[in-house]
Amino acid sequence: MLSSNEIRQKFLDFFEKRGHKILPSASLVPENDPSVLFNTAGMQPLVPYLMGQKHPMGTRLANIQKCVRTGDLDDIGDNRHFSFFEMMGNWSLGDYFKEDAIKWSYEFLTNPSEGLGLDPKRLYVTCFEGDENAGKDIESANIWQNVGIPENRIYFLPAEDNWWSPGDNGPCGPCSEMFYDMSGAIGDLSKEEFIEAVRKEDVIEIWNDVFMEYEKKDEKVIGKLAQKNVDTGAGLERITAVMQGKKTAYDTDLFEYLFNEMDTTYGIFSDIKSKRIVADHIRTAVFMINDGIIPSNKDKGYVLRRLIRRAISHARRSATNFSQLFYLVDFITNHYKNFYPEFEKNRRYIHEIFKDEELSFSLTLERGLKEFEKGTDAFMLFTSYGFPYELTEELLKEKGKGKITTQNITGKSRIMSKEDFNAKMAEHQKLSQTASAGMFKGGLANHNEETVKLHTAHHLLLAALQQVLGKSVKQRGSNITEERLRIDFTFDRKMTDEEKQKVEDIVNEKIKAGLSVIRKEMPLTEAEKLGAEMEFGAKYPEIVSVYFIGDDEAFITLDKGEGQGGGIFSIEFCGGPHINNTNELGTFKIQKEEAVSAGVRRIKAILM
Ligand code: SER
Repeated sequence: MLSSNEIRQKFLDFFEKRGHKILPSASLVPENDPSVLFNTAGMQPLVPYLMGQKHPMGTRLANIQKCVRTGDLDDIGDNRHFSFFEMMGNWSLGDYFKEDAIKWSYEFLTNPSEGLGLDPKRLYVTCFEGDENAGKDIESANIWQNVGIPENRIYFLPAEDNWWSPGDNGPCGPCSEMFYDMSGAIGDLSKEEFIEAVRKEDVIEIWNDVFMEYEKKDEKVIGKLAQKNVDTGAGLERITAVMQGKKTAYDTDLFEYLFNEMDTTYGIFSDIKSKRIVADHIRTAVFMINDGIIPSNKDKGYVLRRLIRRAISHARRSATNFSQLFYLVDFITNHYKNFYPEFEKNRRYIHEIFKDEELSFSLTLERGLKEFEKGTDAFMLFTSYGFPYELTEELLKEKGKGKITTQNITGKSRIMSKEDFNAKMAEHQKLSQTASAGMFKGGLANHNEETVKLHTAHHLLLAALQQVLGKSVKQRGSNITEERLRIDFTFDRKMTDEEKQKVEDIVNEKIKAGLSVIRKEMPLTEAEKLGAEMEFGAKYPEIVSVYFIGDDEAFITLDKGEGQGGGIFSIEFCGGPHINNTNELGTFKIQKEEAVSAGVRRIKAILM
């Protein structure tokens, strides 16, 4: 039986052998497309190239693209829907077209050595039936027959099923989809029987070949593109289910390890859908955080926040031994790290972000529930207590289902339509924007990668100076450009060459050690207790942002409330931004050490 890891590899090997260059997955966050929050299909990062731009890797590409679809969260947890999935795809950018695309799809599916070895007698195929934009796709149907699919297993369907486009604008075209009989006992089907079998999930779609030669603008197909492209997409989740003989990917090795952990830690779930939602949402959250999204109240950050909160709500509701979920994060990063090596360096960071969100949500829940019972409305619950609108709505629904009705829970009304809520929110945001501007500014002129790296090096340097010259060394000023960092610090004499060398060595040693850089929000008093470095003369709010640099064991000790141990190298009050792991920094070098004024020295340093 092929594992999901082996399936990915087989796919890439198959197409590499046929002249395709293998691309790594693009980030879940679209690079130059503000119209979508996440990449929802393998083709999205490739749109400019489908439209005619030259791709640096050539005209034949293959990849496994991370995708997120959160359109309808209510579907998640059935057999077919996942908020995150991996799409295997091969691409022709004005290179081969229908003939090769179809031939290779068939070969990959059915060839037992190079491909998946699926039974050709269990395959069905659909083609586009034609409309005012393009004619009936007889050409594809003929190619399918030539490779071995009998005519009566090829069905022509309308644009609704067999025209693929990413939205109202962009490259698009007719498509041809492949379906597989899950039981092996179905045999020939009339068109009506086929449609019914798909509806009942007796046969399931496993691959889609899109022949992208058209362009859509404002919902309308406006004509042909300059080149004929092929965009194929096979969901790893579905293919894995087929290959492992399961009705759903939730029962395959893509989730097995996670459910095992959940069974051990959280006991029985009263509701299988809730259990799947928890696994699905945490997996998606891990991938989102890995791609730089952090929980917040808008856009991508809000989707992430909602997924984490939904997972927690479902676990609370249906697990017999509910406890914190962040514990699962490490199992997910571990499971995926071979194929997505960035998990190795980000795992601690992901763990911390998830955990912070989970803990702050627990507090929010407790406070919000109390307020809800008092009759506070959805808007107040959100703005004053951070209690999400959806939760108020869910609570009201739950109450409505039981004996209590929304009218008689309290005298006050807290029912508010989504529209009213949004309108109030928009007004609220306009008012609060000016107030919050500049709250947690990190003091960096611009946030490009070099300055962010130098910023992290700056924290390492201050800690190293204190280690070599003594704890009385305090930062008095700092300035970072793309080329170098500058720190002013209290010290009353010139540093010796040995001292400078020692400081440099310590910083480089910490870089090599691959320490995690973790941000935490905490009460000011707690940060002071931990001895976090403060900016001279700065005034801090009650809740502060603090950056820790240390090894993973030290963070575990810190989490358990057993103090910071020896493994935390640096703690500073700071709003960021920073890189996630010191091993990204390169080599640290001090360029100059000089006096600024009596008792204050200045170091300029670079990363090479
Ligand atoms: N774009 C098509 C899909 O997402 C094929 O990759 O189904």
